[in-house]
Amino acid sequence: MSNQSKTTCYSPGLAGIPVTKSKISFVDGQAGHLEYCGIDIEKLAEHSSFEETSYLLLYGKLPTAQELSSFDQKLRHHRRIKFRIRDIMKCFPESAHPMDSLQTTIAALGMFYPLPAGLGSSLNDVQIEEVCLRLIAKMPTLVAAHARMRKGDDPIPPRDDLSHSANFLYMLSGLEPSAIMERIMDVALIVHAEHTVNASTFSTLVTASTMADPYTCISAAIGSLSGPLHGGANEDVLVMLDEIGSVENVELNLSQRLERKEKISGLGHRIYKTKDPRATLLQSLYTRLTDELGQDPTYEIASRIEQLSHSTLGAKGICPNVDFYSGIVYRKLGIPTDLFTPIFAIARVSGWLAHWKEQLDDVRIYRPNQIYEGLHNQPYVPLEERQ
Ligand code: COA
Repeated sequence: MSNQSKTTCYSPGLAGIPVTKSKISFVDGQAGHLEYCGIDIEKLAEHSSFEETSYLLLYGKLPTAQELSSFDQKLRHHRRIKFRIRDIMKCFPESAHPMDSLQTTIAALGMFYPLPAGLGSSLNDVQIEEVCLRLIAKMPTLVAAHARMRKGDDPIPPRDDLSHSANFLYMLSGLEPSAIMERIMDVALIVHAEHTVNASTFSTLVTASTMADPYTCISAAIGSLSGPLHGGANEDVLVMLDEIGSVENVELNLSQRLERKEKISGLGHRIYKTKDPRATLLQSLYTRLTDELGQDPTYEIASRIEQLSHSTLGAKGICPNVDFYSGIVYRKLGIPTDLFTPIFAIARVSGWLAHWKEQLDDVRIYRPNQIYEGLHNQPYVPLEERQ
């Protein structure tokens, strides 16, 4: 291959390069449109539950009432975590980031639920479903347990009579959430559950392509999600809003950040060149929450940033993404800032597993190429002769 053709094949960040075929989700970045298995995200946010959306992603169709009830019952059954997993968490430093704790404990789960070596077609449907149920069900318990244990409190055991979202909020605080808080959490999980082949989903696929066990695949995905260019941005948005402090400071602060060539957290997306539909949905969730819980001062700051950045960055297609308003919603629900990215993971695990499951039918190890820019035919210089 000539140097010229090698260069034209290379796309930094794999931008625009299809890496798989999938029926799970679809994004139109110009129109700001997202579908899960052909269904508009707005419709799912209005009518579905996280449990139902997870079923949809895993099985490619909406469940019947009986299928949903059975799936939900099984999820509730798998919520508990082994005391040895809690013992592992006890050894983490109190300052450990909850994403690091989650990544470690998810990897550790694989030791407690071993699967046959060389997965792929050797897994039957029951084993595949058990893996998915266990991971989706246990993520909130792992996050909530760590959040309490790092403060020296005992974890609150999950309650089987609560929905996935209500139980998570309950395990964090010990208080049953109101109906509106439960619904807001549920919708936040739905809109974060899947988003085609982003960095963390690609990590899942790459790891799964070696036939590694699914707990390792999800642990790898959690590591990818933790970075500030991906899921970690929702934490950074709140840090930025707190730093700015008031609506009056926005204009100057924003222009200083842009002069320093800083990226504004929560703005911009590889695919969306208009406002992310999930940002619009999360913004409306905030508005629904304020009737019960009152305003949050950071919302006005965020909204002013959106307004001002429209004239400065909008022409480049840099608009609010999913992370821009999610943190404000979570803060209103009383959730600490460093749990925002773990909540993203609690939701996205359904999408990761849907891709893992889809790829089981056609496993081929990922082995991309590179453009070598180093030297050839170099002498081996003996140690004593090196300068
Ligand atoms: N603030 C200011 N400028 C931004 C920006 C932001 N948030 N996001 C992108 N840009 C600018 C870049 O500086 C670059 O400008 P240039 O063409 O003058 O060099 C241009 O837009 C393209 O950005 P680039 O980083 O190459 O796009 P990408 O597709 O590789 O990256 C993100 C996409 C999401 C990583 C990027 O927009 C970003 O870092 N956003 C902030 C972090 C964030 O919110 N992440 C969550 C994503 S859901």
